[in-house]
Amino acid sequence: MKKLILALAVLVSLSAAAQRSQDKKKMDAFITNLMKKMTIEEKIGQLNLVTPGGGIATGAVVSSNVEAKIKEGKVGGLFGVHGPEKVRQAQDFAVKQTRMKIPLLFGSDVIHGYKTIFPIPLGLSASWDMALIERSARIAALESTANGLNWNFSPMVDIARDPRWGRVAEGAGEDPYLGSQIARAMVRGYQGDDMTKPTTMMACVKHFILYGAAEAGRDYNTTDMSRIKMFNEYLPPYKAAIDAGVGSVMSSFNDIDAVPATGNKWVLTDLLRGRWGFDGFVVSDYTSVNEMIAHGMGDLQAVSALALKAGLDMDMVGEGFLTTLPKSLKEGKVTEKEIDQSCRRILEAKYKLGLFDDPYRYIDTSRPAKEILTADTRKAAREIAARSFVLLKNNNQVLPLKKSGTIALVGPLANNKNNMLGTWAVSGDPQTSIPLLEGMKNVAGNGVNIIYAKGANITNDTLLAKKVNVFGTRIDIDKRSPEEMLKEAVEAARKADVVVAAVGEASEMSGESSSRSDITLPESQKKLVRALVQTGKPVVLVMMSGRPLALEEENELTTAMLQTWHAGSEAGNAIADVLFGDYNPSGKLTATFPRNVGQVPIYYSQRTTGRPATSEEFKKFQSNYLDVPNSPLFPFGYGLSYTTFSYGDVKLNKNSMKPNEAITATVTLTNTGKYDGEEVVQLYIRDVVCSITRPVKELKGFQKVFLKAGESKEVSFKITAEDLKFYNSELNYVAEPGDFKVFIGTSSQEVKEADFKLQ
Ligand code: BGC
Repeated sequence: MKKLILALAVLVSLSAAAQRSQDKKKMDAFITNLMKKMTIEEKIGQLNLVTPGGGIATGAVVSSNVEAKIKEGKVGGLFGVHGPEKVRQAQDFAVKQTRMKIPLLFGSDVIHGYKTIFPIPLGLSASWDMALIERSARIAALESTANGLNWNFSPMVDIARDPRWGRVAEGAGEDPYLGSQIARAMVRGYQGDDMTKPTTMMACVKHFILYGAAEAGRDYNTTDMSRIKMFNEYLPPYKAAIDAGVGSVMSSFNDIDAVPATGNKWVLTDLLRGRWGFDGFVVSDYTSVNEMIAHGMGDLQAVSALALKAGLDMDMVGEGFLTTLPKSLKEGKVTEKEIDQSCRRILEAKYKLGLFDDPYRYIDTSRPAKEILTADTRKAAREIAARSFVLLKNNNQVLPLKKSGTIALVGPLANNKNNMLGTWAVSGDPQTSIPLLEGMKNVAGNGVNIIYAKGANITNDTLLAKKVNVFGTRIDIDKRSPEEMLKEAVEAARKADVVVAAVGEASEMSGESSSRSDITLPESQKKLVRALVQTGKPVVLVMMSGRPLALEEENELTTAMLQTWHAGSEAGNAIADVLFGDYNPSGKLTATFPRNVGQVPIYYSQRTTGRPATSEEFKKFQSNYLDVPNSPLFPFGYGLSYTTFSYGDVKLNKNSMKPNEAITATVTLTNTGKYDGEEVVQLYIRDVVCSITRPVKELKGFQKVFLKAGESKEVSFKITAEDLKFYNSELNYVAEPGDFKVFIGTSSQEVKEADFKLQ
């Protein structure tokens, strides 16, 4: 029977492969035929991506004369155009008024939801729930395609280990294994199993490569990294997206080995296509071709030729390809073959989206009202947001709050629609979001008396406010004096049984071009927290931020802390669900929270040193600091629940395996508390002896397990040689025989361990 099933499976996959090869032949013939009729200018036109403005311009320029350019066949794709009517109008210019009638791509940055906004990606990742993340991407695709879009500049999978970098908000944190799972889930969510469906869109993995390793956490800064680190720690999520069939890739702004990614042949061709077999197209980041002039790589003609030859196919906004490639071709600086190759890749993407069959496939005026920001999508946003929160501290079980008595809700983010959506929510309308005050009223019912006071400004620094308020008011400096606001908050606290303080960052204090050298709470809010604590009332901090903040003082002072990121359209309801215990928090950190910025970069999977610290106390001639312990404030994988979980010892079914065998590691997990709840059981591995230095621990598996109060369950993981592989000095992906440790536990630091051997 087993054999029969196997034979059938082989047959099915053979026939699927045969079908794919036939489809490819059909596509190739169609495109070859089309390209035969195209002039060189028309081919170059396909390589041009423009934005007519109206969205958020992230560079100094926006495109001009867009309509005329489309009609002249000088545009391959647009972004920043939304809504079936507008998309139809632009598509009409392309398919009715150009000679070749080639449809346009319509792109957008749909990073964590389109109109229904989900938590920022860093928050989403803290759910450790792949089905949930895929669902958020699915809904984002549904809403975006309902508004005429067919191409998404997401997922952003840059590993980020420096919370000074504002774009840490946009990715899945510090870990390559988790990041890879999330990359896959998002690609699946956007593209589905068929990109021609009117509800799916092409994804674009970005920023290729290493953008998250910008030196000193300063955006757009240079990166420098060994191949070993790159292959083992930074590249896996990009590769996972490629393996999941992502249709496009965006090159990054930074340089790699002193050549900007956008003009780096090793990156865009040797690695991406040669080594990984990527067959989609590569788009530049916003004017990143032109920016190679500032990098010192030559004038616009030189950098455009460099980019094309490196393997870049589409030029975002800068029009270096459009304006200089004809000349470069004449002068022999690029070849027609190179232009053809990039043009073919763009046309293939359009073909795969089904645009040649029906350029209006994504245009349906009846869809927006039915599919965008509906009760269903809001419900999903609320559920997903609640699952992204991380309970950092909960002394005296002050949480969940009782649905009775008096609560003082204070803080600049307590009743603030403008900062719920978070960074990179360009299509979302802040006014459609639910602030915490409203959410608490919705969830608490009539038994609770909520007294609200703003208490402080996000910051009193008017200059910072001006820098942050570029896309609308995010920091609103009150007309009242700080003292007056503080007094009001303290009075509210005195009247209450418990204080909930919503503090943190404005949404645009993280994100693109929003690096911070000081990642503590702004002083205005620190003062508020101190004053509230002084009242002697229990203080619950609801932390909103786009990055790990350094919260040592707040951790000392307060009774409880719930990290809620920027939680999206349903922020207030979701936070209230968790505060009042309608949902028991289950999120775990995916980026380490440092004690202070001096510990940065800090991440759990650091490589071994020859002089490891043996305790938290300073010891001379060990790898440690005079002024701060090595340990973070909250490690990767950390997060509490209203219930408690206990872990039994790690049991292995055997202690040694051959390369083609597997070991099963099992722990008994028990919910020892009073609440039903979910726990993210994490499995880490350490390669004890190896030809290169290896991380002290690497995540290699996790399961989110639901247990009723008092319930126990065996949780098992299968470990194969695949989990032990790494890139060695020759960059071969190998598992070396020898000793390994396996750790299973509730965070990267709190684990039980066992030993095994690979023969
Ligand atoms: C960002 C990209 C984004 C692009 C288009 C750039 O500044 O780095 O992530 O996709 O703008 O909006």
